[in-house]
Amino acid sequence: IDREELCGRSLECSIHLEVIVERPLQIFHVEVEVKDINDNPPVFPGTQKNLFMAESRPLDSLFPLEGASDADIGANAVLTYRLSPNEYFSLEKPSDDERIKRLGLVLRKPLDREEAPEIFLVLTATDGGKPELTGTVQLLITVLDANDNAPTFDRTLYTVKLPENVPNGTLVIKLNASDLDEGSNGDIIYSFSTDILPNVKSKFHIDPVTGEIMLKGYIDFEESKSYEIFVEGIDKGQLPLSGHCTVMVEVEDTNDNVPIMEFKSLSLPIREDAPLGTVIALISVSDLDSGVNGQVTCTLSPHVPFKLVSTFKNYYSLVLDSTLDRESVSHYAVVVTARDRGSPSLSATAKVSVEVADVNDNAPAFAQP
Ligand SMILES: *[C@@H]1O[C@H](CO)[C@@H](O)[C@H](O)[C@H]1NC(C)=O
Ligand SMILES: *[C@@H]1O[C@H](CO)[C@@H](O)[C@H](O)[C@H]1NC(C)=O
Repeated sequence: IDREELCGRSLECSIHLEVIVERPLQIFHVEVEVKDINDNPPVFPGTQKNLFMAESRPLDSLFPLEGASDADIGANAVLTYRLSPNEYFSLEKPSDDERIKRLGLVLRKPLDREEAPEIFLVLTATDGGKPELTGTVQLLITVLDANDNAPTFDRTLYTVKLPENVPNGTLVIKLNASDLDEGSNGDIIYSFSTDILPNVKSKFHIDPVTGEIMLKGYIDFEESKSYEIFVEGIDKGQLPLSGHCTVMVEVEDTNDNVPIMEFKSLSLPIREDAPLGTVIALISVSDLDSGVNGQVTCTLSPHVPFKLVSTFKNYYSLVLDSTLDRESVSHYAVVVTARDRGSPSLSATAKVSVEVADVNDNAPAFAQP
């Protein structure tokens, strides 16, 4: 006898029989009461339930669940629910007051997709029979992303050393920020900050997708020794979040400037009886490069009766070093070379034409006595 098939959920279940006895004819009415035994477990609508929850949901949010049903009656159909142990949810159970039949999950700890993108729970229903029967449903909770993580660069300051005159388009640095969010909430667009200086903007270009900073044109150490680039990474979330870093580009000097030589004053022509040490010219030299690339020494072409005397840093005097005689040499072509100490070194030359002025130092002489 299956009470559930005979009577469904009605509490009373009996089978009415008429027993007929002949001779003498009598009718007995027999009422067979069918008693329930706990032969039906609680049954959920499915074996697995998928739930989708945004990670931004506030605490105490309620997510309704469908309960189980039990074909038995009475205590055999009184269900109690139990949730597998977890830190995120507690179970809101139907109250004894049968009018409120709410079964649901209550959020007890903020969801964080970056920490737990999926949560598995098991909901168990137990009936009140003796022995009791149980039914379970698996709850698979998928946590939907919210844009709650800002892009972060692994450093706040990057330092790059770059020699001047490197080719146009040279890669300076490839930045890489990370954003723990997924999808567009984690897609980062790189750009220069709005408060970046115009001279930086004119020299560098940033690829918004790859984060590569490239040189635009050429950098010149003599123009600027460093550039400070402020970079922003902004995600594509609906309420975008941003991260920042600074790229310090230090320009390294190369020996790209030739020494410059300047003759300050010339006292020419020089008399052939001028005393040794007479100053003929003042020479100043300069070089725009720095360090050894800008250290200049001057030399003089050999075999001239002059010498260079260094008077002060980068200043030289061209002075008379031995006696002159116009009647033997009346003109000297003097070549001064200024050479820096870079490697390879650069040099400049200047030519000075020194005329020897005649002095009356020869008496008339007859060819024959
Ligand atoms: C950026 O960094 C992340 C984590 O540090 C790494 O997984 C990823 O491959 C990097 N991307 C590039 C393009 O370097
Ligand atoms: C550098 O290269 C870019 C792209 O090829 C070009 O547009 C720009 O004119 C170049 N700049 C110089 C100074 O050559």
